[in-house]
Amino acid sequence: MNLQFHDYHPQSDDLRQCVMTGFAGSPKQLPPKFFYDEEGSRLFAQICEQPEYYVPAVERSIFETHAADIMRSLALDGRTLIEPGAGCGRKVRFLLDRASAAMYVPMDISAEHLRSSAQRLAADYPHLPIHAVCVDHTQPFTLPDEIPVAGRIFFYPGSSLGNFSPVEAIGFLSDLRNKAGAQGRLLIGIDTKKSVEVLNRAYNDAAGVTAAFNLNLLRRIRQELAAEVQLDGFSHHAFYNEPRGRIEMHLVSRRDQCVRVADRRFEFKAGESIHTENSYKYSPQEFQELAWEAGWDSDKVWLDPLHYFSVHLLKARKG
Ligand code: AVI
Repeated sequence: MNLQFHDYHPQSDDLRQCVMTGFAGSPKQLPPKFFYDEEGSRLFAQICEQPEYYVPAVERSIFETHAADIMRSLALDGRTLIEPGAGCGRKVRFLLDRASAAMYVPMDISAEHLRSSAQRLAADYPHLPIHAVCVDHTQPFTLPDEIPVAGRIFFYPGSSLGNFSPVEAIGFLSDLRNKAGAQGRLLIGIDTKKSVEVLNRAYNDAAGVTAAFNLNLLRRIRQELAAEVQLDGFSHHAFYNEPRGRIEMHLVSRRDQCVRVADRRFEFKAGESIHTENSYKYSPQEFQELAWEAGWDSDKVWLDPLHYFSVHLLKARKG
């Protein structure tokens, strides 16, 4: 198999550290990267099948409608394709099926998930060299020496950029710009601003999968940190904060209670929340301005007819 696995997996101390500081602060918070253990990654794949969560279906429809133009503009033949947060590796097949990339580099925080999806890809694309990198791409990261610098194309679909704050997003995009080199490109999916009803429904699906995904964080904390926490003591709360242009997800305490982690006790008042995720939405122009700050020029943008989602192709700005 033409597959190499590079394990830079974050230690569970990282989770412990973030829980200790995040539960001690006010408001209480946790970074969304901890959603994605094996169960969380499975639940996220299920979210992507819920009818209310339009993101994957609309993004796919943009790729299908504009396939020829996207592939021509991307010019992937002979170049290295790098995908931070590759997940189950389904979206990249659209690109790999239509061009001859020289190398594919999926990156993901979940080792088990990455290993199995990279193995499936290696079986289906036997001539494609694959370097799977288990890493937390939300922190400054390095790529293995085997990845050529020339001809790098980054692929960041699904609007994952929305889970960074705008300042963090600029930092992340600048880092990709520096890693991409002078001829670098970035193909990125960005969720747009739209009606509050549509956005609120997308993060409160009727089947309760997003709620389970959010609550899975507590199960993970209980299991990995041997914490004493009642899962039925919290409920999922997600809403669009229009002035800030973002969905917020919270775990709200149903009662006054105490959560114990190692030798620390954290008091929760009824109604007090742990802020677990932001998902920023950008108009095409807002996103282009953000990308420009990070050293990227806009090349092309594709939208669906309702303008629910946008796919941008960026080119590294010279100089
Ligand atoms: C991964 N990310 C882009 C998703 C989002 O829409 O912000 C995560 C998610 N959270 C709840 N539903 C989906």
